[in-house]
Amino acid sequence: MSHTTADTDDKAVQHQLDDSIASDVGKRLFEAGPNVKNILITGGAGFIASFVVRKLVLLYPEYNIFNFDKLDYCASTNNVKYVQNKPNYSFIKGDICVKDMVNFVLHEKKIDTILHFAAQTHVDNSFGNSAEFTINNVMGTHVLLEAARVNNIKKFIHISTDEVYGEVEHGGNELTEESLLAPTNPYSATKAAAEMMVGAYQKSFGLPTIITRSNNVYGPYQYPEKIIPKFVTLLSEDSKVFIHGDGSNTRRFIYGTDVADAIEVILHKGDIGETYNIGTSFEISNLNLTKLLIKQMGLAARETELIEFVEDRPFNDMRYAIDSTKLEALGWAPKVTFEDGLKKTIAWYTQYSRKWWPNISTALVAHPYKSGAQHEIVIQK
Ligand SMILES: NC(=O)c1ccc[n+]([C@@H]2O[C@H](COP(=O)([O-])OP(=O)(O)OC[C@H]3O[C@@H](n4cnc5c(N)ncnc54)[C@H](O)[C@@H]3O)[C@@H](O)[C@H]2O)c1
Repeated sequence: MSHTTADTDDKAVQHQLDDSIASDVGKRLFEAGPNVKNILITGGAGFIASFVVRKLVLLYPEYNIFNFDKLDYCASTNNVKYVQNKPNYSFIKGDICVKDMVNFVLHEKKIDTILHFAAQTHVDNSFGNSAEFTINNVMGTHVLLEAARVNNIKKFIHISTDEVYGEVEHGGNELTEESLLAPTNPYSATKAAAEMMVGAYQKSFGLPTIITRSNNVYGPYQYPEKIIPKFVTLLSEDSKVFIHGDGSNTRRFIYGTDVADAIEVILHKGDIGETYNIGTSFEISNLNLTKLLIKQMGLAARETELIEFVEDRPFNDMRYAIDSTKLEALGWAPKVTFEDGLKKTIAWYTQYSRKWWPNISTALVAHPYKSGAQHEIVIQK
């Protein structure tokens, strides 16, 4: 196994793993599914999928979990270190865009179930080289769908985002799974395009697919390019944070373990052909979130000097709001309050941000896409 990201033996990292993983994975909820044995999880060294990898490896020893990840800049093998020696876990370094390799793995490992998380995920980056998003998110999903069709996959769960709905005005109704998709930035457009291809494979070829769309997810193990881990890292190093625009845009947040619980429920009880929103009703503006972080980190007296307002994104959705009633009817509900989740997240990043990934400096700037020559559209494949 080769690594492009940090694979440190740092004792602190190991200690953290031993300490918190068991409580994170929770209790097993289901008997093994009838057609589930060999599960391919794409993007399993990334943030959200690593919660799912750890949960399924530890709670479902009869499932074989194959983590298929190209180890991009945001991945860390530290995220899956706790399970790397378990007999039902394997790591495969690979790119979902490479057809022959994907086909080989599905065939050789007798994969019956795919949980597809791998993607380019940072909206800021998508304003730069957006073609990377089309290649990984749309082409990559297409390659995987075709390989799934050829190899008779029994269940294909495609992980998408609430951003595919586009923005919801303040006071606007929560959107259900039937709402129209109206993405507004290159990231969300590629996620919506990927969903269209998933739907087409389901309708045209009967591929047994399910789609999920979730809120902003937060928690430990997330590369610090998104607002919460980035701001906690900056503040913990006594640096100021950068707010896009006036900070009035709101986001809803859900903790990583609650999403992993949702995936466990959908894997075992979700209906083929359905889409499930995964969300909470906890909503906060970027400015109020920043002030809360500053307060929780004991820096309230210096609030004004720690906040800098910068030019907004080319387009910045005012808010997202989804209705998760359909998933709740399957027995799922979020368990972690924002207060508790934030406490854990602040504690984690204050200690581990720079230990977990080899280089996070480029993530900590106001607009990552403005650094370097990313504005050109570059299609390399
Ligand atoms: N983070 C969020 O708030 C959020 C919210 C809703 C939905 N999602 C969706 O959830 C999924 C996971 O998001 P995340 O934030 O955990 O992502 P992440 O950026 O932390 O990790 C993505 C992972 O995918 C891998 N990857 C990327 N391209 C690949 C390729 N071509 N082949 C193989 N591996 C590849 C990366 O190496 C990385 O490990 C994505 O599909 C994302 O769109 C994320």
